[in-house]
Amino acid sequence: MRYLIVSCSLRENSRSRVMAKLTRDDLEESGAEVDWLDLIEHPLPFCDGGAAYGDSRVGPVAEKLRRADGIIIAAPIYNYDVNAAAKNLVEMTGRDCWSGKVVGFIAAAGGSASYMSVLSLANSLMVDFRCVIIPRFVYTDGASFAADGQLEDAGIRERIRRLGGDLIGFTEGLSEALKAERG
Ligand SMILES: Cc1cc2nc3c(=O)[nH]c(=O)nc-3n(C[C@H](O)[C@H](O)[C@H](O)COP(=O)(O)O)c2cc1C
Repeated sequence: MRYLIVSCSLRENSRSRVMAKLTRDDLEESGAEVDWLDLIEHPLPFCDGGAAYGDSRVGPVAEKLRRADGIIIAAPIYNYDVNAAAKNLVEMTGRDCWSGKVVGFIAAAGGSASYMSVLSLANSLMVDFRCVIIPRFVYTDGASFAADGQLEDAGIRERIRRLGGDLIGFTEGLSEALKAERG
């Protein structure tokens, strides 16, 4: 099985990127085959439903998604949703990249009130592409991070470990069932 961690923040000192890297470390440590996609290094054009799909920056990003069996989306919460870059990634890639994949979420927010914010994208991935969404996600606000930007909350660190374990467990366990969706 191949796994992909997608870091969606376009901010240099991003907290969701810190957590995405920890997830990558955990998966690598467990011996899993894991790839990395950081949208700050792979800027995509805005989806226009047409010409943007032909942009040369789209292909390499789509290929990373296509190759993955299980995907973690690590994203900032903006306006009670994942940031626009995360949604744009899905719009710019679509069915053949996402169908029948297992997807987990890591969210960095400013406060505790936006807890349900990843569910809009999760619903769309389920309904549009028959993704299986890991029903335990990681949600943090600024209180979990030290002044130097590192994660200092042991509970969240453990939850990140568990999400990585769930990603492997769900992806391996459902691989036969999801084959038909993958086409
Ligand atoms: C435009 C904008 C909108 C935001 N909206 C929310 C929000 O709805 N709920 C919330 O808890 N935090 C919100 N925040 C705070 C961010 O989620 C927070 O700064 C988070 O750490 C960003 O993720 P990152 O560190 O990975 O870039 C917003 C920040 C910005 C810049």
